[in-house]
Amino acid sequence: MYEILSKKKLNNNVEEMVIRAPYVARRCEPGQFVILRVDDEGERIPLTIAEYDAAQGTVSIIYQVVGFSTRKLSEKKAGESIADFVGPLGRPTQLHAHKRVIGIGGGVGAAPLYPQLRKLNDMGVAVDLILGARNKDLIILEDKFRAFCKNIYITTDDGSYGTKGLVTDKLKELVEAGNRYDEVIAIGPVIMMKFVSLLTRKYNLKTSVSLNPVMIDGTGMCGGCRVTVGGETKFACVDGPDFDGHLVDYDELMRRQGMYKTEEAHACKIGLKG
Ligand SMILES: Cc1cc2nc3c(=O)[nH]c(=O)nc-3n(C[C@H](O)[C@H](O)[C@H](O)COP(=O)(O)OP(=O)(O)OC[C@H]3O[C@@H](n4cnc5c(N)ncnc54)[C@H](O)[C@@H]3O)c2cc1C
Ligand code: FES
Repeated sequence: MYEILSKKKLNNNVEEMVIRAPYVARRCEPGQFVILRVDDEGERIPLTIAEYDAAQGTVSIIYQVVGFSTRKLSEKKAGESIADFVGPLGRPTQLHAHKRVIGIGGGVGAAPLYPQLRKLNDMGVAVDLILGARNKDLIILEDKFRAFCKNIYITTDDGSYGTKGLVTDKLKELVEAGNRYDEVIAIGPVIMMKFVSLLTRKYNLKTSVSLNPVMIDGTGMCGGCRVTVGGETKFACVDGPDFDGHLVDYDELMRRQGMYKTEEAHACKIGLKG
């Protein structure tokens, strides 16, 4: 069992939990994830490692409450435990000692982006950030990013905070104003990563994205997480989750993500557990 040391709401729908998991904390690196089960009958949920402290043996996860299992996780309180917390899984992000990088975090995508940008800052890279969300309440982790990012630009779809518009509008404005970046790291909804990649391809600007197809075992055996990258089949759990944004078949990924919508929406009327 893995003890929940603390739990905090980041907004109405997103929460952060710090879990005691010394084995994971000692070995993990930015870009990796865990698969957890809330209890013995629970589904497996992949979640990115948002922060880790090897000395304390702790790992933070930041999750959006979207369905059955994340709701069950959200019902847990500090001091209680969860059944499984397996990791670190996936390949660590390849972080390069560039001069200047810009991160783009869409909604809860800010959580997986955080450890990558913080590590780049530790490596001496100048880091800028665009944080985007539908509205002000959905912007998370702004204070944590402010601690090290050189420039932070906020965009909201409804204009309730920062500039009204999409993250791609801000990126276009920055690049066309003469800002030079060696790499863009974009993490958020698939549609956002698709449009960021289409834009950066025009500027010949290296782009890394983090993919979140449905995962089951997380070890390359079930094939559930397959994605097409550069015309080849890859398993996001072992070959990723980070890939070259210019090579990903986003339309196929969106189609595959929609495949289980009916099952996910199904509310059991005969009392079977989720
Ligand atoms: C590598 C990876 C890292 C992730 N990191 C985060 C994170 O840091 N924070 C966060 O909030 N979410 C993250 N996710 C998504 C998270 O796993 C899903 O939101 C969660 O599994 C939903 O479960 P549910 O039962 O509450 O919702 P459901 O009602 O079952 O599903 C809601 C939506 O979640 C997605 N989903 C459901 N099951 C899975 C699954 N087994 N694998 C992947 N996606 C699934 C689907 O898009 C689905 O439409 C990550 C996914 C992957 C693959
Ligand atoms: S989750 Fe099964 S192969 Fe990746």
